[in-house]
Amino acid sequence: MRIKDKKRFIIACGGLAAIVILVIVVLTIGFMNNNKTQTSANNKQNVETTTVQTTTAKETAPVSNSQTVAVEQPVPVETKDDTKNANTTSTDSITMLVNKNHSIAASYVPADLVTVNLPSTRETQMRSVAAEALVKLFNAASSAGYDLSCCSGYRSYETQSELYAWNVDIYGVDGAELVSARPGMSEHQLGLAMDVTSATVGFDLLESFGSTPEGQFLKDNAYKYGFIVRYPQGKTEITGYAYEPWHLRYLGVDVATEIYNSGKTMEEYYGTN
Ligand code: DAL
Ligand code: ZN
Repeated sequence: MRIKDKKRFIIACGGLAAIVILVIVVLTIGFMNNNKTQTSANNKQNVETTTVQTTTAKETAPVSNSQTVAVEQPVPVETKDDTKNANTTSTDSITMLVNKNHSIAASYVPADLVTVNLPSTRETQMRSVAAEALVKLFNAASSAGYDLSCCSGYRSYETQSELYAWNVDIYGVDGAELVSARPGMSEHQLGLAMDVTSATVGFDLLESFGSTPEGQFLKDNAYKYGFIVRYPQGKTEITGYAYEPWHLRYLGVDVATEIYNSGKTMEEYYGTN
């Protein structure tokens, strides 16, 4: 090869090598860029995955939280609230509040009245749940040596009207208001009240009954069977009635026990008048 040809050959090889290097460089850069994009995509996918996981975690949390709240709610508080919030406005409820400010319909007659199967000055009725509890109370009194007698249980609206009118005739309106409920305002219409007396007071309804052993027994033990002495001594300002140691009101053992232990009237216990 001539010298001139040799030079041409070397220049051609150099150019080819430069082209090859350039191609390699371009390819390498292209490959690296492709890798970068893939890494970025992978990272994005991770974020999304993370996001999804986070979202899932958040979606689980409220459920978990709500379950925790439900489990953690203190049962005694619920029970107490339930008792306190017991239904005092539904006429068929055993904790229905009836007084001078809370009346019941003239047409209301309890559906489950039964004749009370106990010593009584006359035949009288109560709602079955109260009658059954009264039998237990009388049995406990008898076991303790005290003989009790029923006097007056359920009274219809009409009977209460006659009784109230009779009391107004005898004592005047102001006097009657202290001893007799107006029609529609008597617990006797609920079938959940019983006037109890004994031979020691001639089977009458007298304040002195409260000082007899029988009256004392009722005061101290009636709650164990679900009854309270509804119109206690010294509470006329609250109940609106004079002391009636004979008038028992059935409320069920839980509420009667709470009221007995609190020393409150039914109005005070429920925070109403
Ligand atoms: N003696 C009570 C207050 C009544 O008449 O219901
Ligand atoms: Zn009564």
